[in-house]
Amino acid sequence: MQHVLITGGSGFIGSHLCERFLSEGYAVTALDNLVTGQKENIKNVLKHPHFEFIEQDVCDPIDLRSWKNLKAHGLSGVLHFACPASPIDFEKIPFVILKVDSIGTMKTVDLAIEHKARYVLASTSEVYGDPLVHPQTEDYWGNVNPVGVRSCYDEAKRFSEAYVHTARLYSDLNSGIIRIFNTYGPRMRKDDGRVVPELCMQAIQGKTLTIHGDGSQTRSFCFVDDLVDGIYKMFQSKESGPFNLGNPNEFTVKEFAEKVVEYTGSKSKLSFIPARADDPKQRKPDITRVQTKLGWNAKVNLDQGLKKTIEFFNL
Ligand SMILES: NC(=O)c1ccc[n+]([C@@H]2O[C@H](COP(=O)([O-])OP(=O)(O)OC[C@H]3O[C@@H](n4cnc5c(N)ncnc54)[C@H](O)[C@@H]3O)[C@@H](O)[C@H]2O)c1
Repeated sequence: MQHVLITGGSGFIGSHLCERFLSEGYAVTALDNLVTGQKENIKNVLKHPHFEFIEQDVCDPIDLRSWKNLKAHGLSGVLHFACPASPIDFEKIPFVILKVDSIGTMKTVDLAIEHKARYVLASTSEVYGDPLVHPQTEDYWGNVNPVGVRSCYDEAKRFSEAYVHTARLYSDLNSGIIRIFNTYGPRMRKDDGRVVPELCMQAIQGKTLTIHGDGSQTRSFCFVDDLVDGIYKMFQSKESGPFNLGNPNEFTVKEFAEKVVEYTGSKSKLSFIPARADDPKQRKPDITRVQTKLGWNAKVNLDQGLKKTIEFFNL
């Protein structure tokens, strides 16, 4: 049996990844300090015989001796997904973000090198900043403000990419970098401030939907099942990436808000508040590279995905 470590395993994306790897016959260790994740997210797998949860900060010393899956199966994969990812977190816990994307990345890379394990880094479309190239291709270097309110996240992820890339070049790390574009679905925190939960919860609660800016900024929303499928394919390959993973169907935030109102059956109105600083004006992945190299495509359209997500928020 093969064993993978998923950092951030009780977060939104990490918890779906744990389930996918278990269902593919892997043993899984989820390491998480619950700074933004919740144990509730992994309640379906906590009692699984090949699942282990380690509650700790990935930046702290890691004592591998007690890990039962490691003892039994060694370590064939590390997926580094620990990192707060919401704009609210950029203001509240910026140093946590900078640390997990620097020290956390270095520690997990060392672990992968030591065990000759495949390493997948969760990077982000934010490495493109407020992009001047549209749609974004992987060879675009980005337009990032290094001293802005989002820089703790954007630049930290750029450092992570550089570290992983360098370890591949000089330390034989079998690595793959994925750049995730706005992903949504069940288990997002209802209050995490990202556009999908924020607008859905406002509509469900009958409140006015507040749109930052004039709503003409665009986003491309990828359903979590599609994303997890792309991550799994990346893990199984030897590709280094970076690969954009996202759904290329692009919507303005205003169009998205109107869909939310329609699918929740809400009578809420839209209102427009000042834009967030350095908020990207447009966001759409060019996924030609991942289509060609991994045969991956986003399959779930926004209508299908949004209905499932609203069902979850309604629980
Ligand atoms: N959801 C998206 O649209 C999106 C887009 C781009 C990139 N990403 C990346 O995907 C990854 C997962 O994001 P998510 O949306 O699931 O966010 P999330 O906040 O739900 O998950 C992050 C998890 O990491 C854990 N964590 C954070 N710092 C930690 C530390 N120092 N030690 C141990 N655990 C720690 C949190 O407790 C949480 O469970 C992140 O790396 C994020 O940057 C997500």
